[in-house]
Amino acid sequence: PETGCLSIIVLGASGDLAKKKTFPALFHLYRQGFIQSQDVHIFGYARTKISDDDLRDRIRGYLTPCKGCERSHEEDVSQFLQLIKYVSGAYDTEEGFRSLDKEISEYELSKNSTQGSSRRLFYLALPPSVYPPVCKMIKSYCMNKSDLGGWTRIVVEKPFGRDLESAEELSAQIGELFDEPQIYRIDHYLGKELVQNLMVLRFANRFFLPLWNRDNISNIQIVFREDFGTEGRGGYFDQYGIIRDIIQNHLLQVLCLVAMEKPVSLKPEHVRDEKVKVLQSVLPIEDSEVVLGQYEGYTDDPTVPDNSNTPTFATIVLRIHNERWEGVPFIIKAGKALNSRKAEIRVQFKDVPGDIYKSKKQGRNEFVIRLQPSEAMYMKLTVKQPGLEMNTVQSELDLSYGQRYQQTIIPEAYERLILDTIRGDQQHFVRRDELKAAWEIFTPLLHRIDRGEVKSVPYTPGSRGPEGADKLAEKAGFVQTHGYIWIPPT
Ligand code: BG6
Repeated sequence: PETGCLSIIVLGASGDLAKKKTFPALFHLYRQGFIQSQDVHIFGYARTKISDDDLRDRIRGYLTPCKGCERSHEEDVSQFLQLIKYVSGAYDTEEGFRSLDKEISEYELSKNSTQGSSRRLFYLALPPSVYPPVCKMIKSYCMNKSDLGGWTRIVVEKPFGRDLESAEELSAQIGELFDEPQIYRIDHYLGKELVQNLMVLRFANRFFLPLWNRDNISNIQIVFREDFGTEGRGGYFDQYGIIRDIIQNHLLQVLCLVAMEKPVSLKPEHVRDEKVKVLQSVLPIEDSEVVLGQYEGYTDDPTVPDNSNTPTFATIVLRIHNERWEGVPFIIKAGKALNSRKAEIRVQFKDVPGDIYKSKKQGRNEFVIRLQPSEAMYMKLTVKQPGLEMNTVQSELDLSYGQRYQQTIIPEAYERLILDTIRGDQQHFVRRDELKAAWEIFTPLLHRIDRGEVKSVPYTPGSRGPEGADKLAEKAGFVQTHGYIWIPPT
């Protein structure tokens, strides 16, 4: 591992993302010993004029005890908070960034006599509108200058633009300042335990290799449901909608991992090359394969215009034009204010040919990977119902993480991804061409929605979403399981 002092600079330190995700993730990395007091310092930077202690007080409440850590939580919190220093300044003027650089350099000087190279990680917990000026300031005033080596890396979060054109513009602006290996585009779904498991499942198990294709799979659903609405984020959400907020990034990344070919190796470039190929094989979306919804009451939020057509729900059928997937619909569903909170992948297999047990009626074979809550994967299969009769029933082979891995702490997505940025592993980050290909898929549809040509239909909060969505999934080939027990005729 690399040595030398590490400065983690959180820009937008007083904002929501930093408080709720970035600092807590750093805290857990600290508690588990992945970052250590002797070689790390954390700098918060934002416009608000507050003291180091003010920032520490704002963060404190979000640092939750970590399951399984033996040391005292209170003691760890106070030691961790001591690692944080605050610098205030604007995002587009040099003064603030000069003082930030001065603080970082002083810290490095105090350490370098004993430790070596310096590493600077800039985490932009900021709205994308300020990425270009902030990157410019970092490049001009805050780069790593150590003669002993090290690096400067930039972490950015979605939304990367609103469509292909704006995303390309943003990429070009950042790309002029930093090389691709310095840029870490976070999609936090790539840090989730079961998303990280997808490649292992597919490529390390003989079971799946021969089955994972159009000959055996009828359809694949990738579903995201939330049981709450936009809750104070209406202003932001209305600019983006569910497709930009969830589907174009999180669910499409999951689709890539489900559909990609086996990469040549686990090198980040090899993995990302395969993901790009999947994205480039997705056919243009047909309006007849889209159902949009907006939950009733969404426009009650004063920051949302009354006539908003922004979807809070979407079901979209994506079709991949390649040898493996031709004819297999990928049914992507995402919605807010629904009846449950769940994210899962549901691989539904074709009916058994020459069936003698009416197994289709009991439910097709399915392989379900539940990303959250309660990580699990299970296979639905037809078995003999235990007992003297030869009845059959659908049952499950079930691997529930809560039971199987009781003693294991499943890390938060952000913890893992921040650790990857420190280690310099870009496998779980979105490359520029991947981002472009993802926007190419959705931009024409998004423009039609923005022009009001595709409408969102109302649905009741707490429901399954608009009725048409289930119908669309069924039309695409999904067959509902009814839990039927088959009793053979006597
Ligand atoms: C974010 C979206 O990227 O992901 C939110 O902006 C959404 O709208 C969140 O609630 C869901 O993340 P998770 O990890 O809770 O599924």
